[in-house]
Amino acid sequence: MSGYAFSREPKTVPLVATPHRLIQTRIPVPGTRAILERLEACESRSMQGQLPLVWDRAEDFSVYDSAGNRWIDFTSTIFVANVGHSNAHVTAAMKATLDRPLYSCYAYANETRAHYLEKLVAFAGRPFEKAFLLSAGTEATEAALKLMRMHGQKSGKRRRGIVCIENNWHGRTLGAQMMSSNLAQKAWIGYQDADIHHIPFPYPWALDGRSGEDFLAEGLKQLEAAGIDLARDVCGFMLETFQGWGAVFYPDDFVQGIERLCRRHGILLAFDEMQAGFARTGRAFGFQHYGVEPDLICCGKGMGGGVPLSGVLGRAEVMDLPEVGNMSSTHSANPLVCAAGLAVIEEIESRNLIAETERKGRLLFDALRDLQSRFPGRIANLLGRGLIAAVLIHDPKTGKPDGPFTSRVAERCMQKGLLVVHTGRESIKIGPPLTISDAALLEGVAVLGEAIAEVAAE
Ligand SMILES: Cc1ncc(COP(=O)(O)O)c(C=O)c1O
Repeated sequence: MSGYAFSREPKTVPLVATPHRLIQTRIPVPGTRAILERLEACESRSMQGQLPLVWDRAEDFSVYDSAGNRWIDFTSTIFVANVGHSNAHVTAAMKATLDRPLYSCYAYANETRAHYLEKLVAFAGRPFEKAFLLSAGTEATEAALKLMRMHGQKSGKRRRGIVCIENNWHGRTLGAQMMSSNLAQKAWIGYQDADIHHIPFPYPWALDGRSGEDFLAEGLKQLEAAGIDLARDVCGFMLETFQGWGAVFYPDDFVQGIERLCRRHGILLAFDEMQAGFARTGRAFGFQHYGVEPDLICCGKGMGGGVPLSGVLGRAEVMDLPEVGNMSSTHSANPLVCAAGLAVIEEIESRNLIAETERKGRLLFDALRDLQSRFPGRIANLLGRGLIAAVLIHDPKTGKPDGPFTSRVAERCMQKGLLVVHTGRESIKIGPPLTISDAALLEGVAVLGEAIAEVAAE
């Protein structure tokens, strides 16, 4: 985190009234502080850190507070509302389940579950044959870790090595944090699993003229120097499809090189598709940009359209490794979330959201490139694909990342009726619902430009 504290003092800001935004009170709206303090009194502080905005309702690409102020949402509640907030088809599917009535049935069979899993596997396509469902993203990455190790043991690997990428992130539970490389966040564990390894991430600014494949070769040399033999010791590679904070994709040949190693040595290749899945990048799943075929994908966020739904997909041979009962959870495949998940895929298909996202992504990046040409020293990099973008903000004097300035830009956007993802570092992340209109998308980018100009002028 940048250490920047958002002001809770209602501030008089200019009136905004456009077809997509309405700011008609002081911001934060009076009363916000009282609600935040009530939460602070009874909830762990680990939930804090976001912009001081109390959500009252959210529809499609708009978020409203109780005073009727309306924001263009560039967050999708962190890439959850891919099919739009409170999507009518998803709502109707859940209402029908509640009216049946059926809230939960644990692991007992239920027809909606059968329908959803058939649809999910068909949507994911080759080589995915089976899935199992969970609730949180971190459970899905943990489950992939378990499957990779089980597969490794079955194939006689001496050790249980999983190779991950530095600075990638996979969730907040034990295994997920071991696979992530945020040292401060996993200090609580007190030790690092000796069989989880990290190789450097090929940031565009780190490549230094090298190809992705050469960069990978250097990372592999580090493993070799540490005595790790891929053929003997490694059972899995776990890749975040793009690195989250900055929407940083890998060079294709880096990922293709990993896939070749996996095939050569009987290693499973898993992608953490939490942010990248369900049409977000203009493909059904983000790994499809690299021209590779993973063995496992871990999904969550946009999969449920706003309800807690996550899952792992893979080939039957891998998915059936756990014994009966060894891989499920009380709320796995709950009928309510299966109905929602099914409606999400139907929405993606019937509204052509994959192709639409690719088209809108081109609009977004054209507009962002214009913005970059207006602030060449400030906007150091534009990263992302489809409707996931990161604007990396530097200090033009030092050329270094400028987290505090970026937080102020996020706060100014809020005062102007635009909600962006505050990452706590030098990136403004943009990930609107995929249903956003072209006009609202472009209006949002224009507001971001105004915010950068105003903060820079102060
Ligand atoms: C790439 C990635 N993996 C895993 C997770 C963990 O998902 P959850 O918060 O649902 O446990 C997240 C959440 O932000 C994520 O972005």
